Amino acid sequence: MAYIVDLRSDTVTKPTESMKHAMVNSALGDDVYKEDPTVNALESKVANLLGKQAALFVPSGTMANLIAIMVHCNKRGSEAIVGNCSHIYKYEQGGAAHVAGVLLSTIQNKPDGTFDLKELESRIRGTDIHEPITSLVAIENTHNYCGGKVLPLEWIDNLSELCKKHSIPLHMDGARLLNASTYLELPPDRIVKGCDSVSLCFSKSLSAPVGSALVGSYHFIQQARRVRKMLGGGMRQAGVLAAACAVALDEVAPALALDHRRAKVMAEVIHGLFLKSFSVDVASQHTNMVLVRIAERSPLSSDQVLQRLAQVSLAETQGDCKTTNDEGVIVKAIGFNEKTIRITLHREIQDEDLWLAIMKITYVFKELDAAHPIKS
Ligand SMILES: Cc1ncc(COP(=O)(O)O)c(C=O)c1O
Repeated sequence: MAYIVDLRSDTVTKPTESMKHAMVNSALGDDVYKEDPTVNALESKVANLLGKQAALFVPSGTMANLIAIMVHCNKRGSEAIVGNCSHIYKYEQGGAAHVAGVLLSTIQNKPDGTFDLKELESRIRGTDIHEPITSLVAIENTHNYCGGKVLPLEWIDNLSELCKKHSIPLHMDGARLLNASTYLELPPDRIVKGCDSVSLCFSKSLSAPVGSALVGSYHFIQQARRVRKMLGGGMRQAGVLAAACAVALDEVAPALALDHRRAKVMAEVIHGLFLKSFSVDVASQHTNMVLVRIAERSPLSSDQVLQRLAQVSLAETQGDCKTTNDEGVIVKAIGFNEKTIRITLHREIQDEDLWLAIMKITYVFKELDAAHPIKS
């Protein structure tokens, strides 16, 4: 038996004891009739937190983003401009096209999750009848594929001005908005001030079992409520879920800085190994994710490294790479591509697990670096 440290995602966390207590004890009603007091309270709480008029509780981040796209792009022939590394483009099955008939046009993301605003402006369509209608710009904060990067506030503000100038709504996929707010030490309403709609997930770094919110104006949320029903996201006694989400905001969000600190420690240790095959950009490690780059000229692939992290060798348990109970350690992470591994810290990784993971990663990276030298 091996001891597993699961660093694949902050979605693997289970509800806390106080979430379970709230789930069992909260008042319930039929939310499709807007009669679930716990859902209603959560929606008001999130709308307040983000400084918007209204919010809608939905099952997932994917549905929140899709509803936002469908409401903003409600004319046939619409296009939404999104980053080429955005979750909406890469990981939501092209739902905008699939379900809503909306063209997703991509703009190149920079490594910090932003994109060039001049290029964006040049991409906004005019009145030429050959072209689709630019109806939405969407950004992501924190940016998952860029390693949990926090978008610079000034850039968001400038983008928002640009969108206003062209009367195009701005949506933020804020699945991990509260990580951004923790990093910037700014309230979330400040960060999303210039956005017309925002999605926020309770089941990522916040540890709730299920649920996201979509936030915007009264009118936007009224339309979103209709679309949610059409997509099958109208839930009945959804207060059992919303109760956990409220606890996530009250009790888990204030501790996010701990995940960030642990991620920084992980990044610094890997960087400090000074290995040729593996590197981490410590300065751009902002929140709870660490991106490990495998050198381009290394023969190693992400899959190979992940497979090795998931194995325990005899030498590890005969040596010091083990728990105090003499168990070998397995670290789970995910590969973003052939040469990039993402490690994610979350509430269930306390200091003991952090150090076990660091011990194992150090052992495996040194072993692989020595066994697979960089090609000259
Ligand atoms: C940035 C971002 N947006 C949206 C989603 C989708 O959320 P869900 O898995 O709840 O559909 C994710 C999921 O990891 C994400 O990282």
